[in-house]
Amino acid sequence: MALESSRAAFERARRSVGGGVGSGLRAATRPHPLFVREARGAHVWDLDGDRYVDYVIGWGPLVLGHGDPRVLSAVSRATRTMQVVGTGHALEYLAAEAVLEAVPHGDRLLWSNTGTEAVQVALRLARAATGRRRVLKFARSYHGWQDSVLAGMAEDEGDRAARPAGRGQSAGVLDDLVVGRFNDVPLAERLLGESVERDIAAVLVDPIKSNAGVEAPTPDFLSALRTGCDRHGVVLVLDEVITGFRIARGGAAEKYGLLPDLSVYGKAMAGGFTQSAVVGRADLVDQVTAGVAHAGTFNANPVALAAVEATMRVLADPEVYEVLERNSATFHSLVGDALAGPGGGFRRIGSLLQYVPADGSTGLHGTGGRWAELLAGLLAQGFLFMPDGRVFLSTAHTAADSEATAEALAMLSPR
Ligand SMILES: Cc1ncc(COP(=O)(O)O)c(C=O)c1O
Repeated sequence: MALESSRAAFERARRSVGGGVGSGLRAATRPHPLFVREARGAHVWDLDGDRYVDYVIGWGPLVLGHGDPRVLSAVSRATRTMQVVGTGHALEYLAAEAVLEAVPHGDRLLWSNTGTEAVQVALRLARAATGRRRVLKFARSYHGWQDSVLAGMAEDEGDRAARPAGRGQSAGVLDDLVVGRFNDVPLAERLLGESVERDIAAVLVDPIKSNAGVEAPTPDFLSALRTGCDRHGVVLVLDEVITGFRIARGGAAEKYGLLPDLSVYGKAMAGGFTQSAVVGRADLVDQVTAGVAHAGTFNANPVALAAVEATMRVLADPEVYEVLERNSATFHSLVGDALAGPGGGFRRIGSLLQYVPADGSTGLHGTGGRWAELLAGLLAQGFLFMPDGRVFLSTAHTAADSEATAEALAMLSPR
């Protein structure tokens, strides 16, 4: 892989696009972001026409791989009839019904565009319902990049004042956060016990710590949150932007048997198009008819909702999750084996994996350790990975992809 075209494209892009790439997080890719001209199944082709096995898979959304024909034909039908209409259309309820069928705890949903926006809507519903202001979240859990939830906290920094994650953020709104530690049940119970004094409206939790180490919840953590929320009148919001429709059809709520009050979905829901949703109890969601603002020009646009409906129909087939699990297990055993050693290894929950160095440290969207050393070599051999060691599998990946990746790794990192 020459990578020349991507290097030149990045230089050119930097002259017209701030940072040279559409999201600051992507700029962390070393030696530079790959510039792609085509993506199909589990592969992308760069501007030179060189092919890569894609383990980034859009940073998570593409459970079915790139360009699933069933999703594309629904989208192409929709684009021929309308694009954005600014009023009601049948796909609003057809897609909503398809989502709610997969998420049995939800009575209704609200459409938004991105996970970041939908988290904001969910928190607004929780504040309106409780009359309280603050949100309990967990250190190093990512919930999008809006000011009020993006805190630059270290792993062990429970119950400390939240700090901005970067320059230019409003430090003022961070006072809305109370920060717990993922899987720290006594701390969560104590903070929830102080909900009235601390003015806590909601618990916001990524049920698998999916952006910093792929850590599963301990059996009693999620149930302690549920019980504590019930006892102290707090709204439990599950952020299923990563886990939704990936970890199981019904997401982490299904996998861990949890009934949240509200859940936020994005990524996998729309099969590669832009749409998110807040799903939840009717009394909470219906507050949008009683003074809670929820808006967005492109909310529920027909093109994205055609993708949502089609994706949901495909994901209703249990075989999808069998294939996804098989592909992920094959990757884990072949590639994990090639990488295992004193330097660290992969953690896996379903089709979500992350390489975690021996000291357990992972950058929240950052690069580190042995992984960082391997990334450029893997890219040069035709394997595209995320800078923070996360790996997203799809139904389109094959055992041959995993075998080839393991061989490349064995050459780059002989044991
Ligand atoms: C758990 C979680 N919540 C929310 C978001 C924000 O979603 P978006 O990037 O669509 O705004 C992300 C994005 O990666 C996420 O991982």
